[in-house]
Amino acid sequence: MAIELKIPGIREYVLDRLDAILNPKSVAVVGASRKEGKIGHTVVKNLIQGGFKGKIYPINPKADEILGLKAYPSLKDVPDEVDLAIIVVPAKITPQVIREAGEKGVKGLVVITAGFSEVGNKELEDEIVRIAREYKMPLIGPNVVGVLNANVNLNASFAQDLPYPGKIAFISQSGALVIGLIGWTHMYRVGISKIVSIGNKADVDFSELITYFAERDPETKVIAIYMEGTDAGRELVEATKRAMKAGKVVVILKGGRSKRGELATMSHTGSLAGSAKVYQAAFKQGYVIEVDNLTELYDVPLALANQPPAKNDNIIVITNGGGAGVLATDAAERYGIPLSDTPSELKKILRNFMPPFGSDKNPVDLTGQANEEDYYGAIVETAKFPGVGGIVALYCHTAITDPMKLAQKIRDAAKVANERGIPVTVSMIGGEEVERANLWLREQGVPAYPTPERAVRAMGALRQFGRYLEKIKRVS
Ligand code: COA
Repeated sequence: MAIELKIPGIREYVLDRLDAILNPKSVAVVGASRKEGKIGHTVVKNLIQGGFKGKIYPINPKADEILGLKAYPSLKDVPDEVDLAIIVVPAKITPQVIREAGEKGVKGLVVITAGFSEVGNKELEDEIVRIAREYKMPLIGPNVVGVLNANVNLNASFAQDLPYPGKIAFISQSGALVIGLIGWTHMYRVGISKIVSIGNKADVDFSELITYFAERDPETKVIAIYMEGTDAGRELVEATKRAMKAGKVVVILKGGRSKRGELATMSHTGSLAGSAKVYQAAFKQGYVIEVDNLTELYDVPLALANQPPAKNDNIIVITNGGGAGVLATDAAERYGIPLSDTPSELKKILRNFMPPFGSDKNPVDLTGQANEEDYYGAIVETAKFPGVGGIVALYCHTAITDPMKLAQKIRDAAKVANERGIPVTVSMIGGEEVERANLWLREQGVPAYPTPERAVRAMGALRQFGRYLEKIKRVS
Protein backbone atom coordinates (compact mmCIF):
# COMPACT_ATOMS: atom_id res chain seq x y z
CA MET A 1 0.00 0.00 0.00
CA ALA A 2 1.21 3.52 -0.78
CA ILE A 3 2.27 5.59 2.21
CA GLU A 4 2.47 9.38 2.48
CA LEU A 5 6.06 10.59 2.30
CA LYS A 6 5.66 14.07 3.66
CA ILE A 7 8.70 16.23 4.25
CA PRO A 8 9.96 16.00 7.83
CA GLY A 9 10.25 19.79 8.22
CA ILE A 10 12.52 22.06 6.14
CA ARG A 11 15.60 19.91 5.57
CA GLU A 12 19.07 21.38 5.89
CA TYR A 13 20.67 18.99 3.37
CA VAL A 14 18.06 20.01 0.79
CA LEU A 15 18.89 23.70 1.30
CA ASP A 16 22.61 22.87 1.01
CA ARG A 17 22.16 20.92 -2.20
CA LEU A 18 19.56 23.03 -4.00
CA ASP A 19 22.40 25.21 -5.21
CA ALA A 20 23.82 22.24 -7.11
CA ILE A 21 20.44 21.95 -8.89
CA LEU A 22 19.92 25.63 -9.62
CA ASN A 23 23.55 26.67 -10.09
CA PRO A 24 25.18 23.45 -11.33
CA LYS A 25 28.70 23.13 -12.70
CA SER A 26 27.80 19.91 -14.51
CA VAL A 27 24.52 18.50 -15.78
CA ALA A 28 23.70 14.98 -16.96
CA VAL A 29 20.59 14.26 -19.02
CA VAL A 30 19.50 10.67 -18.42
CA GLY A 31 17.36 9.59 -21.36
CA ALA A 32 18.99 12.00 -23.81
CA SER A 33 17.24 10.74 -26.91
CA ARG A 34 18.91 10.60 -30.33
CA LYS A 35 15.63 11.61 -31.93
CA GLU A 36 14.91 15.25 -32.61
CA GLY A 37 11.56 16.31 -31.15
CA LYS A 38 11.73 13.98 -28.14
CA ILE A 39 11.85 15.62 -24.73
CA GLY A 40 15.21 14.05 -23.77
CA HIS A 41 16.76 15.40 -26.98
CA THR A 42 15.24 18.85 -26.50
CA VAL A 43 16.66 19.18 -22.97
CA VAL A 44 20.22 18.62 -24.28
CA LYS A 45 19.56 21.07 -27.13
CA ASN A 46 18.24 23.69 -24.67
CA LEU A 47 21.29 23.34 -22.44
CA ILE A 48 23.58 23.91 -25.42
CA GLN A 49 21.54 26.64 -27.13
CA GLY A 50 20.81 28.43 -23.85
CA GLY A 51 24.54 28.98 -23.51
CA PHE A 52 25.17 26.97 -20.33
CA LYS A 53 28.90 27.19 -19.58
CA GLY A 54 29.19 24.08 -17.38
CA LYS A 55 29.66 20.48 -18.53
CA ILE A 56 26.81 18.59 -20.21
CA TYR A 57 26.70 14.79 -20.16
CA PRO A 58 24.05 13.03 -22.29
CA ILE A 59 23.25 9.56 -20.91
CA ASN A 60 21.87 6.93 -23.31
CA PRO A 61 23.00 3.26 -23.52
CA LYS A 62 22.22 3.20 -27.24
CA ALA A 63 24.10 6.35 -28.29
CA ASP A 64 27.75 7.32 -28.73
CA GLU A 65 27.06 10.97 -29.20
CA ILE A 66 24.13 13.41 -29.01
CA LEU A 67 24.22 16.84 -30.65
CA GLY A 68 28.01 16.68 -30.86
CA LEU A 69 28.50 15.73 -27.18
CA LYS A 70 29.95 12.39 -26.10
CA ALA A 71 27.18 10.19 -24.65
CA TYR A 72 27.66 7.73 -21.77
CA PRO A 73 25.77 4.44 -21.28
CA SER A 74 25.00 5.25 -17.64
CA LEU A 75 25.66 7.90 -14.99
CA LYS A 76 28.30 5.65 -13.44
CA ASP A 77 30.36 5.87 -16.64
CA VAL A 78 30.72 9.67 -16.45
CA PRO A 79 34.37 10.33 -15.53
CA ASP A 80 33.67 13.57 -13.57
CA GLU A 81 31.36 14.75 -10.79
CA VAL A 82 27.73 15.37 -11.71
CA ASP A 83 25.91 18.13 -9.84
CA LEU A 84 22.50 17.81 -11.45
CA ALA A 85 20.89 14.83 -13.20
CA ILE A 86 17.79 15.49 -15.27
CA ILE A 87 15.73 12.33 -15.60
CA VAL A 88 13.83 11.86 -18.87
CA VAL A 89 13.40 8.08 -19.08
CA PRO A 90 9.99 6.36 -18.85
CA ALA A 91 8.51 6.09 -15.35
CA LYS A 92 9.09 2.36 -14.85
CA ILE A 93 12.89 2.67 -15.18
CA THR A 94 13.26 5.81 -13.04
CA PRO A 95 13.89 3.89 -9.74
CA GLN A 96 16.85 2.07 -11.29
CA VAL A 97 18.26 5.27 -12.80
CA ILE A 98 17.86 7.20 -9.54
CA ARG A 99 19.70 4.48 -7.61
CA GLU A 100 22.55 4.77 -10.11
CA ALA A 101 22.56 8.53 -9.55
CA GLY A 102 22.84 7.93 -5.80
CA GLU A 103 25.72 5.48 -6.23
CA LYS A 104 27.45 7.98 -8.54
CA GLY A 105 27.18 10.72 -5.89
CA VAL A 106 24.95 13.03 -7.98
CA LYS A 107 23.98 16.04 -5.85
CA GLY A 108 20.44 16.68 -7.03
CA LEU A 109 17.69 15.46 -9.37
CA VAL A 110 15.05 16.94 -11.63
CA VAL A 111 12.57 14.30 -12.75
CA ILE A 112 10.72 15.45 -15.87
CA THR A 113 9.08 12.04 -16.34
CA ALA A 114 5.30 11.88 -15.84
CA GLY A 115 3.14 8.88 -14.87
CA PHE A 116 3.30 8.94 -11.06
CA SER A 117 0.81 10.09 -8.40
CA GLU A 118 -1.00 12.34 -10.88
CA VAL A 119 -2.30 9.15 -12.56
CA GLY A 120 -2.66 7.18 -9.32
CA ASN A 121 0.83 5.62 -9.43
CA LYS A 122 1.70 6.72 -5.89
CA GLU A 123 3.69 3.60 -5.02
CA LEU A 124 6.21 4.22 -7.81
CA GLU A 125 6.47 7.87 -6.73
CA ASP A 126 7.11 6.86 -3.12
CA GLU A 127 9.78 4.43 -4.31
CA ILE A 128 11.79 7.08 -6.20
CA VAL A 129 11.48 9.47 -3.26
CA ARG A 130 12.70 6.81 -0.84
CA ILE A 131 15.79 6.13 -2.98
CA ALA A 132 16.53 9.85 -3.47
CA ARG A 133 16.28 10.45 0.30
CA GLU A 134 18.48 7.45 1.05
CA TYR A 135 21.27 9.19 -0.91
CA LYS A 136 20.31 12.69 0.27
CA MET A 137 19.66 13.85 -3.29
CA PRO A 138 16.91 16.50 -3.35
CA LEU A 139 14.41 15.52 -6.05
CA ILE A 140 12.40 18.15 -7.94
CA GLY A 141 9.24 16.69 -9.48
CA PRO A 142 8.32 14.27 -10.90
CA ASN A 143 6.09 15.48 -13.75
CA VAL A 144 7.89 18.77 -14.41
CA VAL A 145 9.21 20.91 -17.27
CA GLY A 146 12.57 21.41 -15.56
CA VAL A 147 14.53 24.26 -13.96
CA LEU A 148 15.94 27.46 -15.44
CA ASN A 149 18.46 30.00 -14.18
CA ALA A 150 18.59 33.13 -16.32
CA ASN A 151 21.76 34.42 -14.67
CA VAL A 152 23.92 31.45 -15.73
CA ASN A 153 22.05 30.65 -18.95
CA LEU A 154 20.82 27.34 -17.60
CA ASN A 155 17.83 26.03 -19.51
CA ALA A 156 17.57 22.56 -17.95
CA SER A 157 14.07 22.03 -19.26
CA PHE A 158 12.01 21.58 -22.38
CA ALA A 159 10.73 25.17 -22.19
CA GLN A 160 11.39 27.05 -25.41
CA ASP A 161 13.53 29.84 -24.03
CA LEU A 162 15.29 31.31 -21.01
CA PRO A 163 13.20 34.01 -19.28
CA TYR A 164 13.91 37.76 -19.36
CA PRO A 165 16.59 38.14 -16.64
CA GLY A 166 15.83 39.83 -13.32
CA LYS A 167 15.18 39.35 -9.60
CA ILE A 168 11.97 37.30 -9.35
CA ALA A 169 12.15 33.56 -8.59
CA PHE A 170 9.15 31.72 -9.97
CA ILE A 171 7.96 28.36 -8.61
CA SER A 172 5.10 26.73 -10.48
CA GLN A 173 3.08 23.64 -9.82
CA SER A 174 2.02 23.78 -13.46
CA GLY A 175 4.73 23.10 -16.02
CA ALA A 176 2.65 24.28 -18.94
CA LEU A 177 2.17 27.66 -17.22
CA VAL A 178 5.94 27.97 -16.92
CA ILE A 179 6.33 27.37 -20.63
CA GLY A 180 3.57 29.79 -21.55
CA LEU A 181 4.60 32.58 -19.22
CA ILE A 182 8.25 32.65 -20.28
CA GLY A 183 7.03 34.39 -23.43
CA TRP A 184 5.32 37.02 -21.27
CA THR A 185 8.53 37.74 -19.35
CA HIS A 186 10.11 38.96 -22.60
CA MET A 187 7.03 40.67 -23.98
CA TYR A 188 6.29 42.51 -20.72
CA ARG A 189 9.89 42.86 -19.41
CA VAL A 190 9.29 40.96 -16.20
CA GLY A 191 12.75 40.00 -14.95
CA ILE A 192 13.15 36.46 -13.63
CA SER A 193 16.12 35.01 -11.72
CA LYS A 194 15.15 31.34 -11.61
CA ILE A 195 12.22 29.15 -12.53
CA VAL A 196 11.40 25.85 -10.87
CA SER A 197 8.64 23.64 -12.18
CA ILE A 198 7.71 21.70 -9.03
CA GLY A 199 5.07 19.30 -10.47
CA ASN A 200 4.00 16.57 -8.05
CA LYS A 201 6.51 17.91 -5.45
CA ALA A 202 6.98 14.40 -4.15
CA ASP A 203 10.20 15.33 -2.36
CA VAL A 204 11.33 18.96 -2.47
CA ASP A 205 8.46 21.11 -1.33
CA PHE A 206 7.53 24.77 -1.80
CA SER A 207 8.84 25.55 1.69
CA GLU A 208 12.37 24.36 0.93
CA LEU A 209 12.59 26.28 -2.32
CA ILE A 210 11.23 29.42 -0.67
CA THR A 211 13.79 29.13 2.13
CA TYR A 212 16.60 28.60 -0.38
CA PHE A 213 15.58 31.66 -2.42
CA ALA A 214 15.12 33.72 0.74
CA GLU A 215 18.30 32.85 2.57
CA ARG A 216 20.77 31.55 0.01
CA ASP A 217 20.09 33.25 -3.29
CA PRO A 218 21.27 36.87 -3.46
CA GLU A 219 19.99 37.11 -7.06
CA THR A 220 16.38 36.74 -5.91
CA LYS A 221 14.39 39.53 -4.28
CA VAL A 222 10.82 38.31 -4.68
CA ILE A 223 9.40 34.77 -4.80
CA ALA A 224 6.34 34.30 -7.03
CA ILE A 225 4.37 31.06 -6.87
CA TYR A 226 1.59 29.33 -8.77
CA MET A 227 0.28 26.82 -6.21
CA GLU A 228 -2.44 24.21 -6.38
CA GLY A 229 -1.93 22.70 -2.95
CA THR A 230 0.57 21.54 -0.35
CA ASP A 231 0.52 18.88 2.33
CA ALA A 232 3.20 20.76 4.27
CA GLY A 233 1.26 23.82 5.43
CA ARG A 234 3.22 24.33 8.65
CA GLU A 235 6.52 24.33 6.75
CA LEU A 236 5.07 26.70 4.15
CA VAL A 237 4.18 29.26 6.82
CA GLU A 238 7.59 28.82 8.46
CA ALA A 239 9.32 29.39 5.10
CA THR A 240 7.33 32.48 4.11
CA LYS A 241 8.01 33.97 7.56
CA ARG A 242 11.72 33.24 7.15
CA ALA A 243 11.54 34.97 3.77
CA MET A 244 10.01 38.10 5.29
CA LYS A 245 12.70 38.08 7.99
CA ALA A 246 15.25 38.06 5.17
CA GLY A 247 13.42 41.06 3.65
CA LYS A 248 11.99 39.04 0.74
CA VAL A 249 8.32 38.71 0.04
CA VAL A 250 6.37 35.71 -1.28
CA VAL A 251 3.52 36.27 -3.77
CA ILE A 252 1.12 33.36 -4.32
CA LEU A 253 -1.58 32.68 -6.89
CA LYS A 254 -3.61 29.78 -5.51
CA GLY A 255 -5.33 27.64 -8.14
CA GLY A 256 -8.33 25.43 -7.37
CA ARG A 257 -10.26 27.91 -5.25
CA SER A 258 -13.66 26.94 -6.66
CA LYS A 259 -15.36 23.57 -5.99
CA ARG A 260 -14.75 22.29 -9.52
CA GLY A 261 -11.30 23.86 -9.66
CA GLU A 262 -10.43 21.83 -6.56
CA LEU A 263 -11.35 18.62 -8.42
CA ALA A 264 -9.28 19.73 -11.43
CA THR A 265 -6.14 20.05 -9.29
CA MET A 266 -6.57 16.42 -8.18
CA SER A 267 -6.22 15.15 -11.73
CA HIS A 268 -3.50 17.66 -12.61
CA THR A 269 -0.84 17.29 -9.93
CA GLY A 270 -2.58 14.94 -7.50
CA SER A 271 -2.79 17.83 -5.02
CA LEU A 272 -5.45 18.29 -2.43
CA ALA A 273 -6.38 21.90 -3.01
CA GLY A 274 -8.13 22.22 0.37
CA SER A 275 -10.41 24.98 1.47
CA ALA A 276 -9.56 28.38 0.02
CA LYS A 277 -10.22 29.90 3.46
CA VAL A 278 -7.63 27.69 5.15
CA TYR A 279 -5.01 28.75 2.61
CA GLN A 280 -5.99 32.39 2.90
CA ALA A 281 -5.53 32.26 6.69
CA ALA A 282 -2.16 30.53 6.33
CA PHE A 283 -0.99 33.10 3.75
CA LYS A 284 -1.95 35.95 6.05
CA GLN A 285 -0.20 34.37 8.99
CA GLY A 286 2.88 33.80 6.83
CA TYR A 287 3.17 37.37 5.43
CA VAL A 288 2.25 36.20 1.92
CA ILE A 289 0.77 38.56 -0.66
CA GLU A 290 -2.02 36.61 -2.32
CA VAL A 291 -2.97 37.56 -5.89
CA ASP A 292 -6.09 36.78 -7.87
CA ASN A 293 -5.01 35.96 -11.40
CA LEU A 294 -2.06 35.44 -13.73
CA THR A 295 -1.81 39.13 -14.66
CA GLU A 296 -1.38 40.02 -10.98
CA LEU A 297 1.09 37.19 -10.52
CA TYR A 298 3.44 39.13 -12.80
CA ASP A 299 2.32 42.72 -12.12
CA VAL A 300 2.79 42.53 -8.36
CA PRO A 301 6.26 40.88 -8.22
CA LEU A 302 7.43 43.32 -10.92
CA ALA A 303 6.72 46.22 -8.54
CA LEU A 304 8.04 44.42 -5.45
CA ALA A 305 11.30 43.53 -7.19
CA ASN A 306 11.99 47.06 -8.41
CA GLN A 307 10.56 49.52 -5.89
CA PRO A 308 11.01 50.09 -2.15
CA PRO A 309 8.06 49.10 0.09
CA ALA A 310 5.61 51.90 0.97
CA LYS A 311 6.23 53.00 4.56
CA ASN A 312 2.77 54.45 5.19
CA ASP A 313 -0.74 54.66 3.72
CA ASN A 314 -0.39 58.20 2.33
CA ILE A 315 -0.42 57.46 -1.38
CA ILE A 316 -0.70 60.41 -3.76
CA VAL A 317 -2.09 59.88 -7.26
CA ILE A 318 -0.89 62.32 -9.94
CA THR A 319 -2.75 62.34 -13.25
CA ASN A 320 -3.52 64.40 -16.34
CA GLY A 321 -6.98 62.86 -16.78
CA GLY A 322 -9.92 63.01 -14.38
CA GLY A 323 -11.34 59.60 -15.37
CA ALA A 324 -8.04 57.80 -14.79
CA GLY A 325 -7.88 59.50 -11.38
CA VAL A 326 -11.40 58.36 -10.46
CA LEU A 327 -10.65 54.76 -11.45
CA ALA A 328 -7.42 54.87 -9.45
CA THR A 329 -9.33 56.19 -6.42
CA ASP A 330 -11.81 53.29 -6.59
CA ALA A 331 -8.97 50.80 -7.02
CA ALA A 332 -7.11 52.29 -4.06
CA GLU A 333 -10.03 51.39 -1.78
CA ARG A 334 -10.23 47.92 -3.26
CA TYR A 335 -6.52 47.28 -2.71
CA GLY A 336 -6.26 48.50 0.87
CA ILE A 337 -4.81 51.98 0.34
CA PRO A 338 -7.83 54.37 0.37
CA LEU A 339 -6.73 57.87 -0.65
CA SER A 340 -6.75 60.82 1.76
CA ASP A 341 -6.70 64.48 0.79
CA THR A 342 -3.39 66.08 -0.21
CA PRO A 343 -1.76 67.82 2.80
CA SER A 344 -2.44 71.59 2.52
CA GLU A 345 1.24 72.59 2.37
CA LEU A 346 1.82 70.12 -0.47
CA LYS A 347 -1.25 71.50 -2.27
CA LYS A 348 0.41 74.90 -2.39
CA ILE A 349 3.61 73.44 -3.88
CA LEU A 350 1.74 71.35 -6.46
CA ARG A 351 -0.16 74.42 -7.68
CA ASN A 352 3.12 75.40 -9.44
CA PHE A 353 2.72 72.48 -11.83
CA MET A 354 -0.87 72.93 -12.99
CA PRO A 355 -3.10 75.62 -14.47
CA PRO A 356 -5.63 77.39 -12.18
CA PHE A 357 -8.33 74.94 -13.25
CA GLY A 358 -6.24 71.92 -12.13
CA SER A 359 -7.06 70.04 -8.94
CA ASP A 360 -4.71 69.82 -5.96
CA LYS A 361 -6.91 67.27 -4.19
CA ASN A 362 -5.88 63.62 -4.22
CA PRO A 363 -5.95 62.50 -7.08
CA VAL A 364 -3.93 65.52 -8.15
CA ASP A 365 -5.08 66.51 -11.65
CA LEU A 366 -2.38 68.37 -13.59
CA THR A 367 -4.93 68.53 -16.46
CA GLY A 368 -4.59 67.57 -20.11
CA GLN A 369 -2.12 70.36 -20.78
CA ALA A 370 0.51 68.94 -18.39
CA ASN A 371 3.93 68.39 -19.96
CA GLU A 372 6.89 66.30 -18.85
CA GLU A 373 8.34 69.10 -16.71
CA ASP A 374 5.04 69.40 -14.81
CA TYR A 375 5.06 65.64 -14.12
CA TYR A 376 8.71 65.75 -13.05
CA GLY A 377 8.15 68.68 -10.70
CA ALA A 378 4.95 67.26 -9.21
CA ILE A 379 6.45 63.80 -8.58
CA VAL A 380 9.73 65.08 -7.13
CA GLU A 381 8.08 67.65 -4.83
CA THR A 382 5.55 65.07 -3.64
CA ALA A 383 8.37 62.60 -2.92
CA LYS A 384 10.23 65.25 -0.94
CA PHE A 385 7.18 66.15 1.13
CA PRO A 386 7.38 64.61 4.62
CA GLY A 387 4.98 61.76 5.35
CA VAL A 388 4.22 60.69 1.78
CA GLY A 389 4.15 56.87 1.44
CA GLY A 390 4.06 56.35 -2.33
CA ILE A 391 3.19 57.92 -5.68
CA VAL A 392 1.06 56.59 -8.52
CA ALA A 393 1.60 58.56 -11.75
CA LEU A 394 -1.08 58.26 -14.43
CA TYR A 395 -1.00 59.57 -17.98
CA CYS A 396 -3.61 59.56 -20.75
CA HIS A 397 -2.01 60.18 -24.12
CA THR A 398 -2.47 63.68 -25.53
CA ALA A 399 -1.11 65.22 -28.74
CA ILE A 400 0.93 67.76 -26.79
CA THR A 401 3.21 65.22 -25.07
CA ASP A 402 5.78 62.81 -26.46
CA PRO A 403 5.22 59.63 -24.40
CA MET A 404 8.87 58.59 -24.51
CA LYS A 405 10.09 62.00 -23.37
CA LEU A 406 7.53 61.90 -20.58
CA ALA A 407 8.63 58.36 -19.63
CA GLN A 408 12.23 59.61 -19.36
CA LYS A 409 11.20 62.40 -17.01
CA ILE A 410 9.06 60.03 -14.94
CA ARG A 411 12.05 57.69 -14.68
CA ASP A 412 14.26 60.58 -13.48
CA ALA A 413 11.64 61.65 -10.95
CA ALA A 414 11.14 58.06 -9.77
CA LYS A 415 14.88 57.84 -9.13
CA VAL A 416 14.70 60.86 -6.83
CA ALA A 417 11.67 59.34 -5.07
CA ASN A 418 13.33 55.92 -4.70
CA GLU A 419 16.44 57.51 -3.17
CA ARG A 420 14.13 58.80 -0.45
CA GLY A 421 12.53 55.37 -0.02
CA ILE A 422 9.32 56.38 -1.81
CA PRO A 423 7.93 53.86 -4.35
CA VAL A 424 6.48 54.97 -7.68
CA THR A 425 4.16 53.01 -9.96
CA VAL A 426 2.95 54.29 -13.30
CA SER A 427 0.17 53.80 -15.82
CA MET A 428 0.45 55.32 -19.27
CA ILE A 429 -2.75 54.82 -21.24
CA GLY A 430 -2.67 54.98 -25.02
CA GLY A 431 -1.69 53.14 -28.19
CA GLU A 432 1.46 51.37 -29.34
CA GLU A 433 3.73 54.37 -28.84
CA VAL A 434 2.53 54.70 -25.25
CA GLU A 435 2.89 50.97 -24.63
CA ARG A 436 6.51 51.22 -25.81
CA ALA A 437 7.03 53.93 -23.18
CA ASN A 438 5.51 51.64 -20.51
CA LEU A 439 7.89 48.85 -21.54
CA TRP A 440 10.86 51.21 -21.51
CA LEU A 441 9.95 52.29 -17.98
CA ARG A 442 9.86 48.63 -16.93
CA GLU A 443 13.32 48.11 -18.40
CA GLN A 444 14.44 51.02 -16.22
CA GLY A 445 12.97 49.44 -13.06
CA VAL A 446 9.85 51.61 -12.93
CA PRO A 447 6.75 49.37 -12.88
CA ALA A 448 4.43 50.77 -15.58
CA TYR A 449 1.11 49.28 -16.65
CA PRO A 450 -1.51 49.91 -19.33
CA THR A 451 -4.32 50.60 -16.81
CA PRO A 452 -4.60 52.72 -13.63
CA GLU A 453 -6.09 49.79 -11.68
CA ARG A 454 -2.99 47.69 -12.30
CA ALA A 455 -0.67 50.51 -11.19
CA VAL A 456 -2.75 50.90 -8.00
CA ARG A 457 -2.82 47.12 -7.42
CA ALA A 458 0.98 47.18 -7.56
CA MET A 459 1.11 50.10 -5.08
CA GLY A 460 -1.30 48.22 -2.79
CA ALA A 461 1.16 45.31 -2.76
CA LEU A 462 4.08 47.65 -2.02
CA ARG A 463 2.15 48.96 0.98
CA GLN A 464 1.24 45.43 2.10
CA PHE A 465 4.95 44.56 1.95
CA GLY A 466 5.67 47.65 4.06
CA ARG A 467 3.06 46.59 6.66
CA TYR A 468 4.44 43.06 6.82
CA LEU A 469 7.97 44.37 7.37
CA GLU A 470 6.74 46.58 10.23
CA LYS A 471 4.85 43.66 11.77
CA ILE A 472 7.72 41.17 11.59
CA LYS A 473 10.02 43.76 13.19
CA ARG A 474 7.53 44.19 16.05
CA VAL A 475 7.09 40.47 16.71
CA SER A 476 10.72 39.36 16.41
N1 COA B 1 19.43 5.39 -19.26
C1 COA B 1 19.47 6.38 -20.15
N2 COA B 1 18.72 6.42 -21.26
C2 COA B 1 17.91 5.37 -21.49
C3 COA B 1 17.82 4.29 -20.61
C4 COA B 1 18.64 4.31 -19.45
N3 COA B 1 18.61 3.33 -18.55
N4 COA B 1 16.94 3.41 -21.12
C5 COA B 1 16.47 3.93 -22.27
N5 COA B 1 17.06 5.11 -22.51
C6 COA B 1 16.89 6.04 -23.62
C7 COA B 1 16.07 5.46 -24.74
O1 COA B 1 16.80 4.59 -25.54
C8 COA B 1 15.64 6.72 -25.46
O2 COA B 1 16.64 7.20 -26.34
P1 COA B 1 16.52 6.97 -27.96
O3 COA B 1 15.30 7.73 -28.38
O4 COA B 1 17.77 7.53 -28.48
O5 COA B 1 16.36 5.49 -28.13
C9 COA B 1 15.51 7.73 -24.35
O6 COA B 1 16.15 7.17 -23.20
C10 COA B 1 14.06 8.01 -23.98
O7 COA B 1 13.38 6.80 -23.75
P2 COA B 1 12.02 6.43 -24.49
O8 COA B 1 11.64 5.04 -24.06
O9 COA B 1 12.13 6.69 -25.94
O10 COA B 1 11.01 7.42 -23.82
P3 COA B 1 10.29 8.71 -24.42
O11 COA B 1 11.27 9.70 -24.87
O12 COA B 1 9.23 8.31 -25.36
O13 COA B 1 9.54 9.24 -23.10
C11 COA B 1 9.49 10.66 -21.20
C12 COA B 1 10.23 9.54 -21.92
C13 COA B 1 10.16 10.89 -19.88
C14 COA B 1 9.56 11.93 -22.04
C15 COA B 1 8.00 10.23 -21.03
O14 COA B 1 7.95 9.02 -20.32
C16 COA B 1 7.21 11.23 -20.23
O15 COA B 1 7.10 11.15 -19.01
N6 COA B 1 6.60 12.22 -20.93
C17 COA B 1 5.82 13.28 -20.28
C18 COA B 1 6.71 14.34 -19.70
C19 COA B 1 5.89 15.47 -19.15
O16 COA B 1 4.92 15.88 -19.76
N7 COA B 1 6.28 16.00 -17.97
C20 COA B 1 5.52 17.01 -17.30
C21 COA B 1 5.62 18.34 -17.93
S1 COA B 1 4.62 19.51 -17.18
